[in-house]
Amino acid sequence: MKKTIAMLLAVLLLAMTLTACGSTKGAPLAKIQKAGKLTIATSPDFPPFESLNGDGKVEGIEIELLEKICQELGVELDIQQMDFDSVLPGVQAGKFDMGVSGISVTEKRQKNVLFTDPYCLAAQAIVVVEGSPITCKADLEGKSVSVQTGTTAESFCNENGYKVSSFQANNDAQSAVVQGKVDAWVIDDLTAADMVKAYNAENDVKLVVLDEPMTTEPYALAMAFGSEDTVKKINEILNQLLSDGTVAAIFEKYEAPFTSPKN
Ligand code: ARG
Repeated sequence: MKKTIAMLLAVLLLAMTLTACGSTKGAPLAKIQKAGKLTIATSPDFPPFESLNGDGKVEGIEIELLEKICQELGVELDIQQMDFDSVLPGVQAGKFDMGVSGISVTEKRQKNVLFTDPYCLAAQAIVVVEGSPITCKADLEGKSVSVQTGTTAESFCNENGYKVSSFQANNDAQSAVVQGKVDAWVIDDLTAADMVKAYNAENDVKLVVLDEPMTTEPYALAMAFGSEDTVKKINEILNQLLSDGTVAAIFEKYEAPFTSPKN
């Protein structure tokens, strides 16, 4: 009996410690307001969502979206740059308030972080060199692909029998297909369109984005557990920006087709 009680107490203590740790990693509204800024983690190699402009500043659809959100919250936007595979672990560990990086909502990620409501729908696209025998998803079966490390493209391709080469930077994943090291490059559709357009404008070898997508995925903003009140507030702001056409207008500014998550 004594042993059981002692064990129960130990379990209770452990649970309390874990909850306490968990809540300190989050970014509740009061904490953000006190700091006067919202610190976001982003991998700016993902146009039109986030990329570096000529002056080395981060710009793009998500940066404009976050500027609107920060305006509503009455705080400054603080942008921290890193590789994509550091974004979610950094948020989860409480190093940054929010991950903003064209992040697709997945069940696996939902076990580690909180997501806001989705603000758009995207898809994974297949990019090949012009003239490639691969013209649809079925042609790619069992073939080799390049992807960015830590992305849904990487996990999808690993789980579906492709030969996967992973790269920290999207540019290197692109180079792999250009150099014929892999049969195709798998990357989110709007970024594929943007990067392929820029590449084709400057090179003789042309890249082609296939019409048939691999997957469909909603994008949302990620926060650590313990940020529930901030997520709730941001959902209110996001839904307002979606319904009054602000989000669609930002996409239009970047000449990117907008697919509403509310279809
Ligand atoms: N949507 C994909 C994912 O969530 C890719 C995101 C890559 N983002 C970036 N900024 N490089 O895994």
